[in-house]
Amino acid sequence: MSMNFLSLFFFATIAATSHAIPHQIHLLRPQSGSAGHRIAGVNCLSWRLAVETDNIRNWDLVPEACEDYVGHYMLGHQYRKDCNIAAVAAYVYAKNVTLKGDGKDIWVFDIDETALSNLPYYALPENAFGAKEYNETSFDEWQLEGKAPAVPAVLHLYENLMKLGYKIVFITGKSEKMRNVTEANLRKSGYHTWEKLVLKQTSESGETAVVYKSKERGKLVKEGYRIIGNMGDQWSDLMGNFTGQRTFKVPDPMYYIS
Ligand SMILES: *[C@@H]1O[C@H](CO)[C@@H](O)[C@H](O)[C@H]1NC(C)=O
Ligand SMILES: *[C@@H]1O[C@H](CO)[C@@H](O)[C@H](O)[C@H]1NC(C)=O
Ligand SMILES: *[C@@H]1O[C@H](CO)[C@@H](O)[C@H](O)[C@H]1NC(C)=O
Ligand SMILES: *[C@@H]1O[C@H](CO)[C@@H](O)[C@H](O)[C@H]1NC(C)=O
Ligand SMILES: [Mg+2]
Repeated sequence: MSMNFLSLFFFATIAATSHAIPHQIHLLRPQSGSAGHRIAGVNCLSWRLAVETDNIRNWDLVPEACEDYVGHYMLGHQYRKDCNIAAVAAYVYAKNVTLKGDGKDIWVFDIDETALSNLPYYALPENAFGAKEYNETSFDEWQLEGKAPAVPAVLHLYENLMKLGYKIVFITGKSEKMRNVTEANLRKSGYHTWEKLVLKQTSESGETAVVYKSKERGKLVKEGYRIIGNMGDQWSDLMGNFTGQRTFKVPDPMYYIS
């Protein structure tokens, strides 16, 4: 089978499963087209591109003027297509790597907004797709429900990586006290097995994600694992040390984690 055929096959199967995150979670004001609207001096498409490319860093909230834009992006087809192409690129790369077959070839996934989607939570009016202040209490309550859906393209990539013989490691900024509910949520959403699930310890709570995740990846490398690929929605998942042979970014215009 040629590479092109496999890619097409992959695209087709992704399309078939791409309805796991509901498109219409709450009604947004009607908006014609999805191009960047210039509202109050902010071009929202340009803002999103700058965020995705890490040109804008340490941003606090989605600009108020872009709440509707980000909402339409996240609930519409473009977000799903952007995730699909990242997953396809990752698969094309992963498939071409010759694995040693000793169980030490791993693929690292972040969880929030990578393996699992918190979109049902962020779509609530009080969270406004990241245009309103983060509320730790209500986010913890949502996490404890354990009902975050999979990001369909990432779940599909996960399944295909497993078939290729990769071991999966999840590294998440979720705290250790969320282990049970996170495991249950992963399984419920289709992630049935993994080599390791690394959660943040209380002792690590003061560390930025880039330091914490670098350190945890370093431990894996020390244990003899080879990080062939690494996928996350934040640049802090993909930068620092022991980042892996290749990194893949899925979109997230709703929040920034350093
Ligand atoms: C496949 O891997 C080989 C060897 O690492 C590399 O030279 C080549 O560019 C890769 N091809 C693709 C399509 O990634
Ligand atoms: C944060 O969420 C909690 C729990 O849902 C709620 O009681 C509280 O009012 C929220 N805080 C703010 C500032 O909105
Ligand atoms: C986690 O699940 C295990 C097995 O179901 C249970 O024994 C344990 O008490 C749970 N821990 C917490 C903190 O909920
Ligand atoms: C990467 O490793 C260097 C050398 O050990 C260390 O000084 C630096 O803090 C590390 N960076 C991160 C982001 O962990
Ligand atoms: Mg994340």
